Amino acid sequence: MKKLLITGGAGFIGSHVVRLFVQKYSQYHIYNLDALTYAGNLENIADVADEENYTFVKGDITDAPFINALFKEHNFDGVIHLAAESHVDRSITNPLEFINTNIIGTVNLLNAAKEAWKNELNDKRFYHISTDEVYGSLGSEGLFTEETSYDPKSPYSASKASSDHLVRAYGNTYGMQVIISNCSNNYGPNQFPEKLLPLAINNIKNNNPIPIYGKGDNIRDWLYVLDHARAIDVIFHNGATGQTYNIGGINEWTNIDLIRTLCKIMDRKLERTIGTSEQLITFVNDRAGHDKRYAIDSSKLSRELGWEPSLQFEEGMEKTVDWYLENETWLNNIVSGDYAKYYEERYGR
Ligand code: NAD
Ligand code: TYD
Repeated sequence: MKKLLITGGAGFIGSHVVRLFVQKYSQYHIYNLDALTYAGNLENIADVADEENYTFVKGDITDAPFINALFKEHNFDGVIHLAAESHVDRSITNPLEFINTNIIGTVNLLNAAKEAWKNELNDKRFYHISTDEVYGSLGSEGLFTEETSYDPKSPYSASKASSDHLVRAYGNTYGMQVIISNCSNNYGPNQFPEKLLPLAINNIKNNNPIPIYGKGDNIRDWLYVLDHARAIDVIFHNGATGQTYNIGGINEWTNIDLIRTLCKIMDRKLERTIGTSEQLITFVNDRAGHDKRYAIDSSKLSRELGWEPSLQFEEGMEKTVDWYLENETWLNNIVSGDYAKYYEERYGR
């Protein structure tokens, strides 16, 4: 049985990746390494917790001795690395945490893998999950391709860019079999409600203002989280070593149009008069250094590996809203904890 280490599997995207791999590949044993920070939540993967081919390991990727010992103990056959600090706003108030986790944590994993795999480097794969934000910000034209120069503009994206460079450097310098993908904004079940869509869903449900930064004209390319997990599966198994693959939804929205669409869905689901939720939209101070537009060209992934987004956006949004409305306890458990303090500091009362 092959041993696969997935980091960050108690978070939003990681939990969907862990579930997909545990359920699809009985020939793999999946080790889910997660520090359970504020963003990590074992409820996200409670349904696979008792599977025979699954083990949860609580641990911090910034703890090098712990990571080295873990690799010595298990001799993993591959790594899919998702653990990270992931929220831009938090990176603006606390950049160092992002440097520690996203850069030092990634180097700790690379070092441990390099040492554990030194006699069989060619048989092992290190797959790093990254973001389109490393490419910076687009004007109204153009798309990010795999050749676009890195130009990160927030502490979050700079820390992810740095980790991407280090992963490539370990491939080039030590011959590690590395692979990277850069994905656009994900949405779907289990996303922590500091991010735009679940934050707005929660606020609409509770009749609270929906904070929109600036004029709401920033543009993001939205992909359903399960489509990202499917892409990760395809790239891990069929991607070429040393390559980068962009993953995107071909689905650009300004924030204001996205939230207006959400408001209509919420009115229907909550049986409110159409137009009720839109009245909650409140324009607030812009995010510092707010990237204007992200849009991904994922044609390499579709041409070379046959991946396409499977869900239409309307269907993805319906599924997402249904999930949050049906999983009130999940949401309430989060918003009743430290989240309330974060929210008040960030948005006021
Ligand atoms: P998330 O914040 O929901 O989850 C991150 C997980 O990592 C959490 O479970 C957390 O406990 C864990 N973690 C954090 N620090 C850790 C540490 N020091 N040691 C071990 N575990 C730690 O993030 P997400 O949205 O699921 O993103 C996952 C990955 O995908 C990240 O690398 C992110 O950069 C990337 N990504 C995210 C998006 C997006 O739209 N969310 C898009 C593209 C790429
Ligand atoms: P977010 O979900 O934080 O993802 P990212 O910054 O990684 O793209 O934000 C998505 C967009 O929504 C981004 O342009 C910032 C904006 N936004 C708001 O307008 N209000 C909010 O309260 C949040 C959290 C984000």
